[in-house]
Amino acid sequence: GLKLVVIGGGSSYTPEIIEGLIDRYHRFPVTSVVLVDVAEGEEKMQTVASLSRRMIAEAGLPVEIHAGKDRKKALHHADFVMVQVRVGGLQARYYDEQIPLKHRLIGQETNGAGGIFNALRTIPVLLDIAQDMHNICPEAWLINFSNPAGIVTEAVLKHSPHPKVVGVCNIPYNMRTGIASLFDVGVERISVEFLGLNHFSFGKRVFIDGKDRTSETMEKLMNQDVDYAPANIVSLPWNKTFLRMLGMIPNPYHQYYFQQETMLEKDFEQWKEQGTRAEMVMQVEKNLFRQYADESVKAKPKELEERGGAYYSDAACNLMESIYNHSLDVQTVNTRNNGCLPELADDTVIEVNSLITANGPRPIAVGSIPRQTSGLLIQMKKMEELVIEAAVTGNYYSAYAAFVMNPLVRSDEKAQIVLDELLEAHKDFLPQF
Ligand code: G6P
Ligand code: MN
Repeated sequence: GLKLVVIGGGSSYTPEIIEGLIDRYHRFPVTSVVLVDVAEGEEKMQTVASLSRRMIAEAGLPVEIHAGKDRKKALHHADFVMVQVRVGGLQARYYDEQIPLKHRLIGQETNGAGGIFNALRTIPVLLDIAQDMHNICPEAWLINFSNPAGIVTEAVLKHSPHPKVVGVCNIPYNMRTGIASLFDVGVERISVEFLGLNHFSFGKRVFIDGKDRTSETMEKLMNQDVDYAPANIVSLPWNKTFLRMLGMIPNPYHQYYFQQETMLEKDFEQWKEQGTRAEMVMQVEKNLFRQYADESVKAKPKELEERGGAYYSDAACNLMESIYNHSLDVQTVNTRNNGCLPELADDTVIEVNSLITANGPRPIAVGSIPRQTSGLLIQMKKMEELVIEAAVTGNYYSAYAAFVMNPLVRSDEKAQIVLDELLEAHKDFLPQF
């Protein structure tokens, strides 16, 4: 059988992976799962491991679950390594959200100032993991969920010796289910051509059973209430004029960019009334872990749906299954551009539909980027490159440039104030600065 290592194994999302493995056992026979976490996550990880063993026993499958802190030991003979770490934990996420909000900037863990700092903390850790994989299990695939997933994946591809890395996110799947509900059909009949970057990709064309239904989808989006935003984002209705101009399906995260003022107001209000999203997640987690610790619980609890990443494991498990079986099916992943979007460099990472082969994803070209968004997409990509540069060098001006270039920051003065405050708050997790 196969061996899967889950780094960040103490995450409350892990039971979803176990469920995904159980459901696919006959096509993707993982017989050994090793959860790995840091000391701070150890207790949670043991709780998750026990629940996982109960789930496996319930399914009657011969799968061993191990849990430990020794990453290098865990990596021996690994076939797949899922990485879902949150460096600095929810406390760090709290600063990523709260500090920008305090200065009236969008406070979000994957976008704007907070997203940049998430990347600055996470990239060095991922580079370490990839280096270990290169030494210990060079044939294994690194499936990255660590946010900001696109930037982190690009950093590993550019700066580590381990090329077998793919980034994943649940948003493309959420967008497809949203469209499926508009047409009242099963999601498996919907395919969407994705174009862009993680948490910034557009659905360029929509097909149902192979037929182009893009304009109908746009009409429906204009006239029907459809909410495909994940649980973590305040969801606003889309403006009809905007949709007509765009001609593509927006990503829920686009609200931050194209409805910035309203989103800031809403997020600010929510922060004052209920706290940051990090604080809400701390509550959801408490409740989840109470259930995980209950010996009578033998399945993934329903409340996991309150997390924005619900169903993310489908994306990860489908991907691993198709790499393993060389399935040649189409999945949306974060992978090397390789000329797919001619406006962006070949070695940059994009979120794109790809043919999944045993040698990894092969992006499917969708033509050039429509003029309405090409400028912003290039700007976002350059901003991401600056973030990666800052993460590997610790150069203050690269980080500052990323702030100023980021459409959710922009102002030079605020950029400096918020940058300095975040550098201070996160200093324990930023050895490069
Ligand atoms: C979405 C994003 C994920 C993100 C999650 C946050 O699903 O795609 O990248 O991690 O939301 O959800 P949370 O419950 O932690 O706020
Ligand atoms: Mn995501």
